[in-house]
Amino acid sequence: MKGVTVVDHPLVQHKLTIMRNKETSTAGFRRLLREISLLLGYEVTRDLELTTTTIETPLQTMEAPTLEGKKLVFASVLRAGNGLLEGLLDLVPAARVAHIGLYRDHETLEAVEYFFKAPSDLGDRLVIVVDPMLATGNSAVAAIDMLKGRGAVNLRYLCLLAVPEGIEHFSKAHPDVPIYTAAIDSHLNEKGYILPGLGDAGDRMYGTK
Ligand code: URA
Repeated sequence: MKGVTVVDHPLVQHKLTIMRNKETSTAGFRRLLREISLLLGYEVTRDLELTTTTIETPLQTMEAPTLEGKKLVFASVLRAGNGLLEGLLDLVPAARVAHIGLYRDHETLEAVEYFFKAPSDLGDRLVIVVDPMLATGNSAVAAIDMLKGRGAVNLRYLCLLAVPEGIEHFSKAHPDVPIYTAAIDSHLNEKGYILPGLGDAGDRMYGTK
């Protein structure tokens, strides 16, 4: 699929299978999500720009590559996005963070905004939006709308699971935003849940069901 990178690394697929299993505990699910976020983060940051810095090794001076970490923003769509955010911040501790509060109206499945806080200079940064489930695509589209409305121009979307209808909706609305996911599942059920999926990611992470 154009604009979609499926991170099919065996470790990602193995961990995802354990996360999908309904017998996996809340603690296990959270730990695996954090581990997977490190592997997905590796892929989504693969082409980050490097600068150099002068350092002294024990033997000589060198111009060594270093990340422009302050140029990066991780934008977490609350609440499940935080499960991916923590691992990503382990990878790039200097990154800035945005929080986007959206909930799904259970009748219409539309995304409703209730919170937004982000660095003011979004236009100067690569913004990686994180939310584990790309389902209808409503909240993903709304999150990108909100970020673009506040000046973001360079964006990527990172999730754990996506479905074709969500990808299509998202890509039509934001063809300039590449998607990174660990898997593309079959379809949505009538309540907007991904099948076979893993259930409600927020509930699985926080034990709120
Ligand atoms: N959000 C979830 O947490 N799970 C789904 O299957 C769809 C949306």
